[in-house]
Amino acid sequence: MRHLMNPLDFSVDELESLFDLAENIAANPAKYAHACDGRILATCFYEPSTRTRLSFESAMTRLGGRVLGFSEASSSSAAKGESVSDTIRVISSYADICAMRHPKEGAPMVAATRSGIPVINAGDGGHQHPTQTLTDLMTIRALRGSLNGFTIGLCGDLKFGRTVHSLIEALLRYDNIRFIFISPPELRIPDYITDRLNAKGVSYEEVIRLEDSIGELDILYMTRVQRERFFNEEDYVRLKDFYVLTNEKLQLARNNMLVLHPLPRVNEISVEVDDDPRAVYFRQAKYGVYVRMALIMTLLEIERP
Ligand code: NCD
Repeated sequence: MRHLMNPLDFSVDELESLFDLAENIAANPAKYAHACDGRILATCFYEPSTRTRLSFESAMTRLGGRVLGFSEASSSSAAKGESVSDTIRVISSYADICAMRHPKEGAPMVAATRSGIPVINAGDGGHQHPTQTLTDLMTIRALRGSLNGFTIGLCGDLKFGRTVHSLIEALLRYDNIRFIFISPPELRIPDYITDRLNAKGVSYEEVIRLEDSIGELDILYMTRVQRERFFNEEDYVRLKDFYVLTNEKLQLARNNMLVLHPLPRVNEISVEVDDDPRAVYFRQAKYGVYVRMALIMTLLEIERP
């Protein structure tokens, strides 16, 4: 039985097959409408989410399956002190696959060791968010045609942003990728990630001003300042509007640069940017459903119809 804890749990070839399947689903949704008839997905969300949880629910429903679950820790037995290990053992009798989000790093991994069904990490604290990374990779592959040979700028909260951590790790397996990390000094990328880049001999730069590097980018990955992971409100208030992407700043960028964002957006991208053809974050959210459909089918070992 396979779980998905980290994007590296799938080889590059396996990811290619997953994205091929996701593209096929996107092109022929009706063909897949009964692929998961009779199957049940449990969404165990101990931390708030709209996109990820509903994206999973939409994915399973579009495959003909059903969904049950909870969307906050206070409405689950965690409020009574139940461990994730016990919860997943019970859920293993209620569902065929589980997507779990938890504020504690490693909680879905602990659950997976006790689970009788595949577990998908839907975000664990500031650590990893593999299905967002699958979404990001599929978006880049679909809109650029390849996952090799580009310069990506990751901008915003690089310290607490789990989507950034997962995406960098995943991109380290592709060729000729240059990273530019754009953040205030307080929110710079953690050392364990730059250590990995150094060990692999991958080149990267760290800059503070978005305007200084936007013109070099093929992809700009914007992120929200992760308020819920700050220790005090004052720091959050000081840093929250450090970056705001506007049409004026976009004039400095290449005509074919893509702007990605895992969403939710707060202020870091001005709404005027949404109409620019380079802004692809809402399309990205749509790819997220297809890639989760492909993932559910893969982990449940369901043949293509
Ligand atoms: C991200 C997350 O939860 O880490 N959201 C998402 O899953 N689409 C990004 C964020 O919350 O900023």
